[in-house]
Amino acid sequence: CLNGHDHFMHKEIHEQPAILSDLNGHDDQWCQMMAQMPDAMVKAQHISVVACGTSYYAGMTARSWFEKYAGISISVEFASEFRYRAGAIRPGRAGLFISQSGETADTLAGLRHFNNHGCPTIAVVNVPTSAMAREAEMAVPTRAGSEIGVASTKAFTAQLATLLRLAIELGSRNGTLDTKNYRRIRREMEEMPNLVREVLSNEHIIKSVTSLLGDCTSTLFVGRGDCYPLALEGALKLKEISYIHAEGFAAGELKHGPIALIDENMPVFVLAPDTPLLVKTSSNAREIAARNGKLFVLTDDDEAAGFKGEKGVEFIKMPPCTEDQIPFVYVTALQLISYHAALDRSADVDRPRNLAKSVTVE
Ligand code: M6R
Repeated sequence: CLNGHDHFMHKEIHEQPAILSDLNGHDDQWCQMMAQMPDAMVKAQHISVVACGTSYYAGMTARSWFEKYAGISISVEFASEFRYRAGAIRPGRAGLFISQSGETADTLAGLRHFNNHGCPTIAVVNVPTSAMAREAEMAVPTRAGSEIGVASTKAFTAQLATLLRLAIELGSRNGTLDTKNYRRIRREMEEMPNLVREVLSNEHIIKSVTSLLGDCTSTLFVGRGDCYPLALEGALKLKEISYIHAEGFAAGELKHGPIALIDENMPVFVLAPDTPLLVKTSSNAREIAARNGKLFVLTDDDEAAGFKGEKGVEFIKMPPCTEDQIPFVYVTALQLISYHAALDRSADVDRPRNLAKSVTVE
């Protein structure tokens, strides 16, 4: 059942192009779902996205899609906090619950909380028979197939693709997104499987760069804009399976405290795709380099990132992609980094210590 892979995590990372291709279909089901979508959801002024762990980071990544393509304001909440926040649910709000298992206790409690208030609820879930799929007003399947590795990989990219599709379907239904842009985004989604394949074909390079982490005990991940939630996800993945301490930061927040951590023993992964924000991210990376931090720069343009040919800076070359493609492409590299870092430390990548695949108690 490993299909020639050494671990489920590796197999699941490599399944992502096929899953993304499949998710580009199902037009009839989307038509049906959108026709059945409660009016209160389409007209919601605000959506609270509620989730835990990697699913929470999928929600954070999707926030800008709902804002720019559907014109809906979004807050993304940790389910474990949200469920105890009196007054968090107001009239005119809808709840969007993201979960691979569909059984996570805190997310399910948040969903029930919304249902009790009579507000519309949508669950974006991978397990179609799960409690969340049954109890939400509408369930949207992420179709990643069963995920065995405790570290969520293919479920995350499937959540992203589903959330992007949901954002553009909502936007075209509520009149925020015009047909030209809807078609452009669908075309970009069609290109994603090949972009992810390109990252996977460079796995040997990612593996050898990762081996340079040596026996470091702590790492940082930094990014701006859509790369900020990816930095958080990269850090979660690394600590979860390799047990290397890792933190993710918004690049602009570095000088508000975290930069004090930087010294020659601190590897820093910088997510630096060529976007209008690159110049800002590069200047943050310069500040890290000036304090002897060891830079690992993920970029499609090392010249624009400002470190071309510089000694001591490691590059992980990424394919050029559009803004909406970045999360899919960059997270695949981050997944491979944690996988190889964990193997270098002989960790059990599929069953990391102290963790369960589904967290059904608080
Ligand atoms: O099943 P869920 O998506 O609700 O699970 C949420 C988290 O427990 C899960 O994403 C966890 O953070 C992963 N193990 C991370 O890889």
